[in-house]
Amino acid sequence: MRIAMTRKIPAVALETLESSGADVVVWPEQLPPSPERLLEHVEGAEGILSTLNDKIDGSVLDKLPSVKVVSNFAVGYDNIDVDACTQRGIAVCITPDVLTDTTADFAFALLMSAARRVSESHQSIARGEWKTWEPLGYLGQDVYGATLGIVGMGRIGVAMAKRAAGFNMTVIYSDMYRNESAESELGVEHVEFDDLLSRSDFVSVHTPLTPETRGLFSTEQFKKMKPSSILINTARGPVVDTDALVEALKSGEIWGAGLDVTDPEPIPADHPLLSIDRAVVCPHIASASEVTRSRMAKLAADNVLAVLNGTTPPRCLNPEVLTRD
Ligand code: DGY
Repeated sequence: MRIAMTRKIPAVALETLESSGADVVVWPEQLPPSPERLLEHVEGAEGILSTLNDKIDGSVLDKLPSVKVVSNFAVGYDNIDVDACTQRGIAVCITPDVLTDTTADFAFALLMSAARRVSESHQSIARGEWKTWEPLGYLGQDVYGATLGIVGMGRIGVAMAKRAAGFNMTVIYSDMYRNESAESELGVEHVEFDDLLSRSDFVSVHTPLTPETRGLFSTEQFKKMKPSSILINTARGPVVDTDALVEALKSGEIWGAGLDVTDPEPIPADHPLLSIDRAVVCPHIASASEVTRSRMAKLAADNVLAVLNGTTPPRCLNPEVLTRD
Protein backbone atom coordinates (compact mmCIF):
# COMPACT_ATOMS: atom_id res chain seq x y z
CA MET A 1 0.00 0.00 0.00
CA ARG A 2 1.66 3.24 -1.12
CA ILE A 3 0.51 6.56 0.26
CA ALA A 4 1.81 9.99 -0.76
CA MET A 5 1.60 12.96 1.59
CA THR A 6 1.96 16.24 -0.28
CA ARG A 7 3.23 18.25 2.73
CA LYS A 8 4.63 17.69 6.19
CA ILE A 9 1.69 17.86 8.60
CA PRO A 10 1.55 17.02 12.33
CA ALA A 11 3.49 13.85 13.09
CA VAL A 12 0.46 11.81 14.08
CA ALA A 13 -0.48 11.45 10.39
CA LEU A 14 2.77 9.79 9.38
CA GLU A 15 2.79 7.67 12.56
CA THR A 16 -0.75 6.47 11.87
CA LEU A 17 -0.08 5.68 8.22
CA GLU A 18 3.25 3.92 8.88
CA SER A 19 1.83 1.87 11.74
CA SER A 20 -0.51 0.28 9.21
CA GLY A 21 2.51 -1.02 7.31
CA ALA A 22 2.00 1.39 4.40
CA ASP A 23 4.88 2.66 2.33
CA VAL A 24 4.57 6.41 2.88
CA VAL A 25 6.34 9.15 0.96
CA VAL A 26 6.24 12.71 2.31
CA TRP A 27 6.92 15.84 0.25
CA PRO A 28 10.00 17.12 2.06
CA GLU A 29 10.01 20.82 1.19
CA GLN A 30 8.54 23.81 2.98
CA LEU A 31 6.64 25.02 -0.11
CA PRO A 32 4.04 22.79 -1.80
CA PRO A 33 4.97 20.93 -4.98
CA SER A 34 4.35 22.49 -8.39
CA PRO A 35 1.74 20.63 -10.47
CA GLU A 36 4.52 18.76 -12.32
CA ARG A 37 6.38 17.82 -9.13
CA LEU A 38 3.07 16.78 -7.52
CA LEU A 39 2.53 14.24 -10.29
CA GLU A 40 6.04 12.82 -9.86
CA HIS A 41 5.62 12.70 -6.09
CA VAL A 42 2.29 10.85 -6.01
CA GLU A 43 2.91 8.55 -8.98
CA GLY A 44 2.08 4.95 -8.11
CA ALA A 45 0.31 5.88 -4.87
CA GLU A 46 -3.09 4.44 -3.98
CA GLY A 47 -3.74 7.11 -1.38
CA ILE A 48 -3.00 10.82 -1.52
CA LEU A 49 -3.02 12.89 1.65
CA SER A 50 -3.36 16.34 0.08
CA THR A 51 -3.59 19.92 1.26
CA LEU A 52 -5.60 22.85 -0.06
CA ASN A 53 -2.59 23.88 -2.19
CA ASP A 54 -2.87 20.81 -4.42
CA LYS A 55 -5.15 21.14 -7.43
CA ILE A 56 -6.53 17.69 -8.14
CA ASP A 57 -8.79 17.53 -11.19
CA GLY A 58 -9.61 15.09 -13.98
CA SER A 59 -6.47 15.84 -15.98
CA VAL A 60 -4.30 15.11 -12.93
CA LEU A 61 -6.24 11.95 -12.05
CA ASP A 62 -5.95 10.61 -15.60
CA LYS A 63 -2.21 10.45 -15.05
CA LEU A 64 -2.62 8.65 -11.72
CA PRO A 65 -4.54 5.42 -12.38
CA SER A 66 -3.52 3.80 -9.08
CA VAL A 67 -5.24 6.39 -6.85
CA LYS A 68 -8.20 5.14 -4.77
CA VAL A 69 -8.54 7.95 -2.24
CA VAL A 70 -7.76 11.66 -1.99
CA SER A 71 -7.87 12.74 1.65
CA ASN A 72 -7.67 16.51 2.06
CA PHE A 73 -6.10 17.95 5.21
CA ALA A 74 -8.89 20.57 5.34
CA VAL A 75 -12.64 20.89 5.60
CA GLY A 76 -12.71 22.92 2.37
CA TYR A 77 -12.25 20.98 -0.85
CA ASP A 78 -12.44 23.53 -3.64
CA ASN A 79 -8.98 22.31 -4.76
CA ILE A 80 -10.46 18.92 -5.67
CA ASP A 81 -12.82 18.12 -8.52
CA VAL A 82 -15.09 15.76 -6.60
CA ASP A 83 -17.16 14.80 -9.67
CA ALA A 84 -14.00 13.82 -11.54
CA CYS A 85 -12.99 11.66 -8.57
CA THR A 86 -16.43 10.05 -8.34
CA GLN A 87 -16.42 9.25 -12.07
CA ARG A 88 -13.13 7.43 -11.56
CA GLY A 89 -14.28 5.61 -8.40
CA ILE A 90 -11.92 7.64 -6.19
CA ALA A 91 -13.06 8.53 -2.67
CA VAL A 92 -12.66 12.12 -1.49
CA CYS A 93 -12.34 12.70 2.25
CA ILE A 94 -12.08 15.86 4.37
CA THR A 95 -11.58 16.92 8.03
CA PRO A 96 -14.76 18.62 9.31
CA ASP A 97 -15.85 19.04 12.95
CA VAL A 98 -12.37 18.86 14.50
CA LEU A 99 -11.60 22.43 13.39
CA THR A 100 -15.01 24.05 13.90
CA ASP A 101 -14.44 25.78 17.24
CA THR A 102 -10.84 26.72 16.56
CA THR A 103 -11.88 28.39 13.30
CA ALA A 104 -14.80 30.20 14.92
CA ASP A 105 -12.51 31.41 17.73
CA PHE A 106 -10.27 32.94 15.12
CA ALA A 107 -13.11 34.51 13.14
CA PHE A 108 -14.23 36.16 16.37
CA ALA A 109 -10.66 37.24 17.12
CA LEU A 110 -10.51 38.95 13.72
CA LEU A 111 -13.87 40.59 14.40
CA MET A 112 -12.62 41.96 17.73
CA SER A 113 -9.26 42.98 16.32
CA ALA A 114 -10.73 44.83 13.34
CA ALA A 115 -13.46 46.50 15.42
CA ARG A 116 -11.13 47.70 18.19
CA ARG A 117 -8.07 48.31 16.02
CA VAL A 118 -5.91 45.86 17.99
CA SER A 119 -3.39 45.03 15.30
CA GLU A 120 -3.39 48.53 13.83
CA SER A 121 -2.71 50.24 17.17
CA HIS A 122 0.04 47.73 18.05
CA GLN A 123 1.77 48.53 14.76
CA SER A 124 1.35 52.23 15.44
CA ILE A 125 3.16 51.88 18.80
CA ALA A 126 5.90 49.81 17.17
CA ARG A 127 6.44 52.62 14.65
CA GLY A 128 6.95 55.03 17.57
CA GLU A 129 3.77 57.00 16.82
CA TRP A 130 2.11 56.78 20.25
CA LYS A 131 3.00 59.90 22.22
CA THR A 132 0.30 60.10 24.90
CA TRP A 133 -3.16 58.79 25.83
CA GLU A 134 -5.45 60.05 23.09
CA PRO A 135 -9.06 61.09 23.67
CA LEU A 136 -9.72 60.92 19.95
CA GLY A 137 -7.23 58.29 18.90
CA TYR A 138 -7.88 54.73 17.72
CA LEU A 139 -11.65 54.99 18.01
CA GLY A 140 -13.28 51.75 16.93
CA GLN A 141 -16.67 50.08 16.63
CA ASP A 142 -18.51 48.44 19.52
CA VAL A 143 -18.97 44.70 19.32
CA TYR A 144 -21.43 44.16 22.18
CA GLY A 145 -25.04 44.54 21.14
CA ALA A 146 -24.17 44.87 17.42
CA THR A 147 -25.79 42.93 14.59
CA LEU A 148 -23.74 40.08 13.16
CA GLY A 149 -24.64 38.78 9.69
CA ILE A 150 -23.41 35.25 9.06
CA VAL A 151 -23.15 34.14 5.44
CA GLY A 152 -23.38 30.36 5.52
CA MET A 153 -24.94 28.83 8.64
CA GLY A 154 -23.05 25.51 8.61
CA ARG A 155 -20.97 24.17 11.49
CA ILE A 156 -18.58 27.11 11.70
CA GLY A 157 -21.35 29.67 11.18
CA VAL A 158 -23.25 28.12 14.09
CA ALA A 159 -20.12 28.19 16.28
CA MET A 160 -19.69 31.87 15.39
CA ALA A 161 -23.32 32.58 16.36
CA LYS A 162 -22.70 30.92 19.75
CA ARG A 163 -19.75 33.20 20.39
CA ALA A 164 -21.80 36.24 19.38
CA ALA A 165 -24.42 35.35 21.99
CA GLY A 166 -21.86 36.07 24.71
CA PHE A 167 -21.57 39.63 23.38
CA ASN A 168 -25.32 40.13 23.32
CA MET A 169 -25.27 40.45 19.54
CA THR A 170 -28.28 40.06 17.27
CA VAL A 171 -27.46 37.36 14.75
CA ILE A 172 -28.99 37.16 11.27
CA TYR A 173 -27.90 34.77 8.55
CA SER A 174 -28.27 34.03 4.88
CA ASP A 175 -27.89 30.59 3.38
CA MET A 176 -29.55 28.69 0.55
CA TYR A 177 -30.65 26.20 3.22
CA ARG A 178 -32.55 27.16 6.36
CA ASN A 179 -30.86 25.99 9.56
CA GLU A 180 -33.94 25.46 11.67
CA SER A 181 -32.11 24.00 14.65
CA ALA A 182 -29.87 27.11 14.80
CA GLU A 183 -32.98 29.28 14.54
CA SER A 184 -34.73 27.55 17.41
CA GLU A 185 -31.71 26.93 19.63
CA LEU A 186 -29.80 30.19 19.09
CA GLY A 187 -32.57 32.55 18.03
CA VAL A 188 -30.82 33.48 14.78
CA GLU A 189 -32.98 34.92 11.98
CA HIS A 190 -32.83 33.80 8.35
CA VAL A 191 -32.82 36.79 5.96
CA GLU A 192 -32.21 37.45 2.29
CA PHE A 193 -28.59 38.20 1.41
CA ASP A 194 -29.28 41.86 0.52
CA ASP A 195 -31.15 42.33 3.77
CA LEU A 196 -28.19 40.89 5.66
CA LEU A 197 -25.82 43.30 3.92
CA SER A 198 -27.85 46.38 4.80
CA ARG A 199 -28.65 45.39 8.41
CA SER A 200 -25.32 44.00 9.65
CA ASP A 201 -22.64 45.80 11.62
CA PHE A 202 -20.38 42.81 11.04
CA VAL A 203 -20.62 40.38 8.13
CA SER A 204 -18.78 37.09 8.62
CA VAL A 205 -18.27 34.73 5.70
CA HIS A 206 -18.56 30.99 6.38
CA THR A 207 -19.52 29.63 2.99
CA PRO A 208 -17.53 27.18 0.89
CA LEU A 209 -15.99 28.38 -2.37
CA THR A 210 -18.20 27.19 -5.22
CA PRO A 211 -19.00 28.64 -8.66
CA GLU A 212 -22.00 30.35 -6.98
CA THR A 213 -20.01 31.94 -4.14
CA ARG A 214 -16.94 33.03 -6.14
CA GLY A 215 -16.99 36.85 -6.14
CA LEU A 216 -20.10 36.93 -3.91
CA PHE A 217 -18.77 40.16 -2.36
CA SER A 218 -17.99 42.83 -4.93
CA THR A 219 -18.66 46.54 -5.56
CA GLU A 220 -22.44 46.19 -5.59
CA GLN A 221 -22.51 44.31 -2.27
CA PHE A 222 -20.15 46.72 -0.52
CA LYS A 223 -22.40 49.63 -1.56
CA LYS A 224 -25.28 47.93 0.26
CA MET A 225 -23.31 47.58 3.51
CA LYS A 226 -23.24 50.19 6.29
CA PRO A 227 -20.32 52.67 6.21
CA SER A 228 -19.54 51.55 9.77
CA SER A 229 -19.58 47.85 8.91
CA ILE A 230 -16.75 45.32 9.03
CA LEU A 231 -16.27 42.30 6.78
CA ILE A 232 -14.74 39.13 8.25
CA ASN A 233 -13.60 36.31 5.98
CA THR A 234 -12.24 33.01 7.29
CA ALA A 235 -13.70 30.92 4.46
CA ARG A 236 -11.95 31.25 1.10
CA GLY A 237 -10.33 34.33 -0.45
CA PRO A 238 -12.07 34.27 -3.85
CA VAL A 239 -15.50 34.65 -2.21
CA VAL A 240 -14.47 38.31 -1.98
CA ASP A 241 -13.36 40.44 -4.95
CA THR A 242 -10.13 41.84 -3.49
CA ASP A 243 -9.90 44.92 -5.74
CA ALA A 244 -13.50 45.85 -4.94
CA LEU A 245 -12.77 45.39 -1.22
CA VAL A 246 -9.75 47.68 -1.40
CA GLU A 247 -11.89 50.32 -3.13
CA ALA A 248 -14.72 49.93 -0.61
CA LEU A 249 -12.31 50.37 2.31
CA LYS A 250 -10.57 53.35 0.72
CA SER A 251 -13.80 55.12 -0.20
CA GLY A 252 -15.37 54.46 3.21
CA GLU A 253 -18.16 52.33 1.81
CA ILE A 254 -17.30 49.91 4.60
CA TRP A 255 -15.26 50.66 7.72
CA GLY A 256 -12.94 47.70 8.13
CA ALA A 257 -12.07 44.11 7.36
CA GLY A 258 -10.63 41.08 9.15
CA LEU A 259 -9.31 38.57 6.66
CA ASP A 260 -7.71 35.20 7.26
CA VAL A 261 -8.01 34.32 3.58
CA THR A 262 -7.28 36.44 0.54
CA ASP A 263 -7.24 36.28 -3.23
CA PRO A 264 -4.45 35.85 -4.18
CA GLU A 265 -2.94 33.70 -1.48
CA PRO A 266 -0.31 34.38 -0.35
CA ILE A 267 -1.01 38.07 -0.75
CA PRO A 268 2.15 39.93 -1.86
CA ALA A 269 3.68 42.20 0.78
CA ASP A 270 3.25 45.24 -1.50
CA HIS A 271 -0.44 44.57 -2.20
CA PRO A 272 -2.64 47.69 -1.67
CA LEU A 273 -4.81 45.78 0.82
CA LEU A 274 -1.88 45.62 3.24
CA SER A 275 -1.46 49.39 3.25
CA ILE A 276 -5.00 49.90 4.57
CA ASP A 277 -4.84 50.36 8.35
CA ARG A 278 -8.36 49.11 8.98
CA ALA A 279 -7.75 45.79 7.25
CA VAL A 280 -6.36 43.06 9.51
CA VAL A 281 -4.90 40.36 7.29
CA CYS A 282 -3.64 36.96 8.46
CA PRO A 283 -1.98 34.05 6.62
CA HIS A 284 -4.84 31.50 6.51
CA ILE A 285 -4.37 30.33 10.11
CA ALA A 286 -7.92 30.05 11.47
CA SER A 287 -7.56 26.31 12.12
CA ALA A 288 -3.95 26.63 13.25
CA SER A 289 -3.95 25.58 16.88
CA GLU A 290 -1.58 22.80 17.90
CA VAL A 291 -4.37 20.49 19.04
CA THR A 292 -6.65 21.13 16.07
CA ARG A 293 -4.01 20.67 13.40
CA SER A 294 -3.07 17.35 15.04
CA ARG A 295 -6.71 16.26 15.07
CA MET A 296 -7.00 17.19 11.41
CA ALA A 297 -3.87 15.16 10.65
CA LYS A 298 -5.18 12.09 12.49
CA LEU A 299 -8.56 12.30 10.77
CA ALA A 300 -6.97 12.75 7.33
CA ALA A 301 -4.78 9.67 7.93
CA ASP A 302 -7.70 7.62 9.26
CA ASN A 303 -9.70 8.55 6.17
CA VAL A 304 -6.97 7.25 3.83
CA LEU A 305 -6.49 4.01 5.70
CA ALA A 306 -10.20 3.27 5.96
CA VAL A 307 -10.67 3.56 2.21
CA LEU A 308 -7.59 1.50 1.40
CA ASN A 309 -8.58 -1.15 3.94
CA GLY A 310 -12.11 -1.37 2.57
CA THR A 311 -13.83 0.03 5.65
CA THR A 312 -15.98 3.14 5.96
CA PRO A 313 -13.91 6.32 6.23
CA PRO A 314 -15.00 8.73 8.96
CA ARG A 315 -15.49 11.65 6.57
CA CYS A 316 -16.12 10.84 2.92
CA LEU A 317 -17.78 13.23 0.44
CA ASN A 318 -18.71 10.61 -2.14
CA PRO A 319 -19.44 7.37 -0.23
CA GLU A 320 -21.19 5.98 -3.31
CA VAL A 321 -17.77 5.05 -4.73
CA LEU A 322 -17.10 2.80 -1.73
CA THR A 323 -19.91 0.43 -2.56
CA ARG A 324 -18.87 -0.07 -6.19
CA ASP A 325 -17.19 -3.33 -7.20
C1 DGY B 1 -9.89 24.30 5.78
O1 DGY B 1 -9.87 23.33 6.54
O2 DGY B 1 -10.56 24.31 4.76
C2 DGY B 1 -9.05 25.48 6.16
O3 DGY B 1 -9.06 26.47 5.25
C3 DGY B 1 -7.65 25.06 6.56
O4 DGY B 1 -7.78 24.50 7.81
